[in-house]
Amino acid sequence: QSTHPINIAIDGPAGAGKSTVARHVASRLHYIYVDTGAMYRAVTCIALDRGMSPDDEAGVGQLAQTLDLVLLPGEDGQKVLVDGIDVAARIRSHEVNRNVSRVSAIGAVRTRMADLQRRMAQAKGVVMDGRDIGTHVLPDAELKIFLTASPRERALRRYRELGDGAGATLDQLERDIAERDRMDRERDIAPLIQAPDARLIDSTGRSIEDIVDEIVDGGLAAARTI
Ligand code: DC
Repeated sequence: QSTHPINIAIDGPAGAGKSTVARHVASRLHYIYVDTGAMYRAVTCIALDRGMSPDDEAGVGQLAQTLDLVLLPGEDGQKVLVDGIDVAARIRSHEVNRNVSRVSAIGAVRTRMADLQRRMAQAKGVVMDGRDIGTHVLPDAELKIFLTASPRERALRRYRELGDGAGATLDQLERDIAERDRMDRERDIAPLIQAPDARLIDSTGRSIEDIVDEIVDGGLAAARTI
């Protein structure tokens, strides 16, 4: 497509397939993929490293405001640099999973992350996934997708991703996911919610390719006629 680049926002709950779908859409369009969850995870990871409690709003907020955080999109995945050191592998730990919702509910953390995210999207040609991209970070994104899947399917994906659950049962993972959803939806600032102008896609039982086609062929065409 030779038309001018646009921004695409993909929001939804954990495990709906956002990052896989977003990465594929970006690669089909030669756009840059920005995983905003990785940024909240990086702040959480560094806060834990420094022995801070995720409930220490002032301390963690201050940390987020001053942290040297850079996302580097690459062929073999995205690098997450904190003070120049790649933490991409460490931000997927169980410890980070358990604490990231609390850290991402802190206002000062969200303000700084949204600021960095808007800067990354300035030149357009970005596929950004998260919870509040279409509603809050990029309300003017030309195409907005809200991607969901049933809680069971999301737990199953996480189970496989961990390699047979890595000690956790499917029921436990489903409970963890439900709890993280609840915290993300109920927080005061920029909660997880579908933007009124977002296209709702349920990925339950559907292939990645099918969803990517729907976004690239259907969604993009519709976005460009507006
Ligand atoms: O997408 P993920 O599972 O990597 O996100 C990790 C956490 O970060 C998730 O529990 C909610 C939070 N998050 C957020 O609050 N806003 C975003 N734009 C992206 C993620």
